Amino acid sequence: MRQRKIKNLQEKLESFAAYIIRDPKSSKGAAGALFPKKQPLYLEIGCGKGQFITRCAAAHPEWNFLAVEGNESVVLRALEKAAEQKAENIRFILDYVDDLGDLFAPGELSGIFLNFSDPWPKDRHAKRRLTCARRLAEYQTALQPGGFIQFKTDNDDLFDFTLEQIEEAGLYVEALSRDLHHSQLTAENITTEYEDKFAGAGKTINYVRISVKR
Ligand SMILES: C[S@@+](CC[C@H](N)C(=O)[O-])C[C@H]1O[C@@H](n2cnc3c(N)ncnc32)[C@H](O)[C@@H]1O
Repeated sequence: MRQRKIKNLQEKLESFAAYIIRDPKSSKGAAGALFPKKQPLYLEIGCGKGQFITRCAAAHPEWNFLAVEGNESVVLRALEKAAEQKAENIRFILDYVDDLGDLFAPGELSGIFLNFSDPWPKDRHAKRRLTCARRLAEYQTALQPGGFIQFKTDNDDLFDFTLEQIEEAGLYVEALSRDLHHSQLTAENITTEYEDKFAGAGKTINYVRISVKR
């Protein structure tokens, strides 16, 4: 998606410094200390404009949320939302994450959300997809036993690929729908900006939740 160029972007981001983790590798194993309250920690990779994570944070003040987004122009809107609602339980990493093992000690996370992740449709880019087997294995290590990975996408090919990768990784599927908004799972669903856009245009939304049973 083309982004409008934001004037004084760095200055604007800096005004939300309290929400931004600048050196996330240094808090590996101690991510809980980044928040005022020590409570279960949930991660969203690719939070975009932040509708999902800010609504999660409002709905679950008893959890902490870490949102990662590499596109600074986009994440500015997410930071604004977090500040508007004076959220104390959200922090942001402004980067593209690769190996989660660089950021989290084994078992440090309670859940991981992947929402409308970039599809990388070319076969030769399959390893860049956030749901490839290598990444699923890293997520599994970062999650505590009983933790989960929740994935939503409008992209049917990416969803099929993800289900294959889940099987390959031997992970346990707790819930699955190829039409989330017309399933019983929708009651607890918190939507994202992309989800509203695609569902509004009549596209069915794919959903899978995997649990880690180590
Ligand atoms: C298609 S958008 C979806 C945004 C949002 N989750 C939603 O559903 O509205 C995907 C976002 O993920 C971000 N992203 C992709 N790979 C990432 C990574 N490895 N680390 C952090 N952000 C990433 C992109 O910059 C982009 O903003």
